[in-house]
Amino acid sequence: MKNQDHEARIAALLKEMTLEEKVGQLRQCGPSLVGAFEVSFSELLNMMFDGKISKEEFERLMSTAEQDYREEELRAGRIGSYNGVSDAATANRLQKIAVEESRLGIPVLLGCDVIHGFRTVTPIPLAESCAWDPGLWERTARVAALEATAAGVHMTFAPMVDVAKDARWGRVSEGAGEDALLAARYGVAKVKGFQTDDPAKNDSMAACVKHFAGYGAAEAGRDYNRVDMSMQRLHEEYLPSYEACVKAGALSVMPAFNDINGVPCSVNQWLLTDLLRDTWGFEGMTISDANAIAECVIHGIAEDTADAAAQALTAGMDMDMTSEAYHENLAELVKTGVVKESDLDRAVTDVLRVKFALGLFDNPYQTSVEKERQAFLKPEYRTLAREAAVKSMVLLKNEGLLPLSREKKIGIAGPLAAAGGEMLGAWAISGKDEDCVSLADACEIQDVTFVYEKGLKESEAASVGTESVPAGAEQAGVTESVPAGAEQAGVTAAGADPVDRAAISRMAEECDVLIAALGETKDMSGEAASRASITLPEEQLALLRALKETGKPVVTLLFNGRPLAVPEVDALSDAVLEAWQPGVEAGNAILDVLYGEANPSGKLTTTFPHTTGQCPMYYAHINTGRPGGRGKFTSKYLDTPLTPLYPFGYGLSYTTYEYADFSLEQGEEGVTARVTVKNTGARDGEEIVQCYLCDETAQRVRPVKQLMDFKKIALAAGETKEVEFTISYRDMGYYDREMNYIVEEGWFTVFIGRDSADCLSGRFELG
Ligand code: NOJ
Repeated sequence: MKNQDHEARIAALLKEMTLEEKVGQLRQCGPSLVGAFEVSFSELLNMMFDGKISKEEFERLMSTAEQDYREEELRAGRIGSYNGVSDAATANRLQKIAVEESRLGIPVLLGCDVIHGFRTVTPIPLAESCAWDPGLWERTARVAALEATAAGVHMTFAPMVDVAKDARWGRVSEGAGEDALLAARYGVAKVKGFQTDDPAKNDSMAACVKHFAGYGAAEAGRDYNRVDMSMQRLHEEYLPSYEACVKAGALSVMPAFNDINGVPCSVNQWLLTDLLRDTWGFEGMTISDANAIAECVIHGIAEDTADAAAQALTAGMDMDMTSEAYHENLAELVKTGVVKESDLDRAVTDVLRVKFALGLFDNPYQTSVEKERQAFLKPEYRTLAREAAVKSMVLLKNEGLLPLSREKKIGIAGPLAAAGGEMLGAWAISGKDEDCVSLADACEIQDVTFVYEKGLKESEAASVGTESVPAGAEQAGVTESVPAGAEQAGVTAAGADPVDRAAISRMAEECDVLIAALGETKDMSGEAASRASITLPEEQLALLRALKETGKPVVTLLFNGRPLAVPEVDALSDAVLEAWQPGVEAGNAILDVLYGEANPSGKLTTTFPHTTGQCPMYYAHINTGRPGGRGKFTSKYLDTPLTPLYPFGYGLSYTTYEYADFSLEQGEEGVTARVTVKNTGARDGEEIVQCYLCDETAQRVRPVKQLMDFKKIALAAGETKEVEFTISYRDMGYYDREMNYIVEEGWFTVFIGRDSADCLSGRFELG
């Protein structure tokens, strides 16, 4: 990424910069709120979460506040970046101050969380990963960049490539699931889509790979919690996705909140310098997570914020997101010799290098209000959002009920059937409820013959969606943990029947098929939304039971931001479609699938357990000396099956596929495995063919299966195709007891199949 001309201009600038101006380049601010209320923003937020004021009152008070961008400080060269500016007018106003009114005219960098779309909100990342489709992942990232850059955004805090094996963690929704290879491919596609080959173009934005590293392994799935694991496991399972994104040219990296083996990532020299820069060759900028540098004091690794700032900068953290630890302390730390000026210069150089790479020095105004006006929700973006939603959905069960005929009258019930805004999912901060097509909206638009009943008595139905975290909370630097969703997570007045039985039976009499729209509200996953029980709220299960009791066939649609433990849903439903949180085109995409206008092809990228107690549950586990089995003294639980409810890689279609003719051929560089896949049903479809490997005996125990590659193939009804995978010997290695990457001789098994549990296989000896 280094460019000689840019490096020379940076060196010249550094010579001119005062100490304060250098520190200013490392400071990212969120706008602060000044307004008619007496308490601080975070106190106000807490008052709402504590129920002292209503959400409406919170929003009213917020609307009386003005956003203060501390423009005098920007003019004085004391601010290098903002988080959360996402409109062209503000972006250009701030940029004008930076480039035309500050002493050195250094452009300001505007960052924002554009996680799964800007205004055209596409499915949450966990959903989209189920398409197993890098081309799609890149196209949706491109649309996100087109819209966000029109609104003045230069850098998105995405992709999140944290491998996540514990469904209790709310942030599983923001990544590509439990597998290292999938997370890497997903991340690389997003980096390409956001940045393109030329990040300096007006419609390219910098990617920020997060959360480096291992955030998805937070103990017990509790957000911000510790991560303690062997270096071998870290390297094999958690680091490859970040490394792949860095190698794909990501311009920035966000260190994670958590510690790794006792050292918080924000001050982790090994992570930020030895590994990221010296080993992987990263030349972009690192930016802390919100407030993370100052939080090192609470974490217990720094005595005060000055100590935290010194440790972070020295470790390799370039920019401070909103904690002000750098702003308040760095100049003094350099003056007193606690921090080396060369470390400060390194950090400033990294930040300026990214500003140059984005073209901001030569072309600081990359959008206009006029451009922004025409940028959002174009018809072709909505078409893509619908395609992405369709391809993300996973058919979990189908007893011949789907696809439905348009002749049938459908009865729809459940709290998520008409909740358009809930379709956005977590981290859709620029998305708007009114842009979303709910299932009920889509039925209206498409003239479907249907009846809609919430099916829950008013108090129950009203409990869904009442605790949304206000958009913008994060930008203001607020990261307080609140029990969002606690109310939805299954609390019903003891003894009271939450179901509106009369309405359900009326509806059932009139209709041929019943559809239950169940799941989580968008606040029940995402940041600070870990759950200790990942099943459905009790009243939703009661509703499903009531629907089943009518005797009519029942389709359950699941809207959720994490795997759910829902064996009862499987048992009570004739068909189950995992719709996730599908974005603005939710309802239309669901009807495409329900009516068979699209043949579902998504496959799970995360394991669904039977019960929360099985978490973390993932396919690539190692064996113990006593693998779970019939015998008493084997590795298992007494009260739940050994197998998951739905395994990794699983997903049905309206057609069927037959796998046959497995063969293996050893070559010079690797082994080639082949199968034939036949579409044995009556419909055309797409099948995601998966290839796994197991190293049978090694110096360290190896996973029972590890995804090595996948291919998504189109098969017309009756068609057969041969599918081949070549796995290089180099990729069959692992880290030995001394952390050397080795490829060992011995026996391996290769698997090819429709999911992680249903494969053909063969063995070969490497020797
Ligand atoms: C905290 C989150 O952990 C991170 O993912 C996000 O990008 C920042 N806040 C900024 O909003």
